[in-house]
Amino acid sequence: MTQTHTIRRPDDWHLHLRDGDMLRAVLPYTSRDFARAIIMPNLVPPVVTAADARAYRDRIIAAIPGADDFTPLMTLYLTEDTDPADVAAAHADGLIAAVKLYPAGATTNSASGVSDFTKVAAVFDKMAEIGLPLCTHGEVTDADVDIFDREAVFIDRVLEPIRRDHPGLRVVMEHITTSDAVDYVKTGDTNLAATITTHHLVINRNHILAGGIKPHYYCLPVAKRETHRLALRAAATSGDSWFFLGTDSAPHTDANKLLPCGCAGCFTAPNTMSILAEVFEQDGALDRLEAFTSLNGPAFYGLPPNEATLTLIREMPDYPAHIDTADGPVTVFDPAMPLNWSV
Ligand code: NCD
Ligand code: ZN
Repeated sequence: MTQTHTIRRPDDWHLHLRDGDMLRAVLPYTSRDFARAIIMPNLVPPVVTAADARAYRDRIIAAIPGADDFTPLMTLYLTEDTDPADVAAAHADGLIAAVKLYPAGATTNSASGVSDFTKVAAVFDKMAEIGLPLCTHGEVTDADVDIFDREAVFIDRVLEPIRRDHPGLRVVMEHITTSDAVDYVKTGDTNLAATITTHHLVINRNHILAGGIKPHYYCLPVAKRETHRLALRAAATSGDSWFFLGTDSAPHTDANKLLPCGCAGCFTAPNTMSILAEVFEQDGALDRLEAFTSLNGPAFYGLPPNEATLTLIREMPDYPAHIDTADGPVTVFDPAMPLNWSV
């Protein structure tokens, strides 16, 4: 049995770091294992301008533990007032790696997101022209669409029309949760890719709802039925270049998770690499872990893969059940299975 497994240092192509005390509490878990991460802009207020992104990047860099080599890749939060020239300047300065589309009301802190897509057409055209990727939270928010169908309906009603109207626009469907999204991305268009989270490879909707409600497994997009989880696992472990890791590690305090109307998000930064090693080994695909975590993402974003390496050792990982922050404890995602790999 293999006792160690070394891969190029991974990157996280979808991460929530928050701000202030929470940022300082959660960032070390990512910067320990990951060289780079795409930083989500859904702060309160959101990161909408190049100036906001520059200031947020400075706060992140100030919070990196001294010994860690970590680069935050910033994003702008797309609003109906986003200025295409500001986006283009931020891209030209090397400040941002992507723009993030939240349909208004789709998830945590998405109230400033887009309702009328005609208002952002000029931004999409500029992004297609300069090759700047659009990261999408792929869910419609219409009250008449069942929450378990929101991703599949987004592809038909929103994403396909955007891609048709803006040829050349590079799109990352983020945190995909359905076989519909896997099939859509697998058509192999080089301008389209998808991230998959750690938790969606492990849980299905039973984990949230069967035998008592489990708020710590509630995230958006919500986990779907088992057939979809299996499709995601097949996609992630395939090594196919259009699928890569975006943990969507999204810390919320327990006080905010355990409410009558609790927050969505799973905090997976501390144990993601141990869980992924387990998942890939279970599926006989440990040799394809590196493609998913360290090669396919940089290739899509036009960046070199990391030179440094990360070694996994066959040893039970040691991570806390929750971490302490100035705002209160944050529970670490429980994979509900024994883990056998440590970083
Ligand atoms: C994210 C958050 O908490 O910011 N929550 C989540 O469930 N994933 C937002 C998001 O990515 O949808
Ligand atoms: Zn997210």
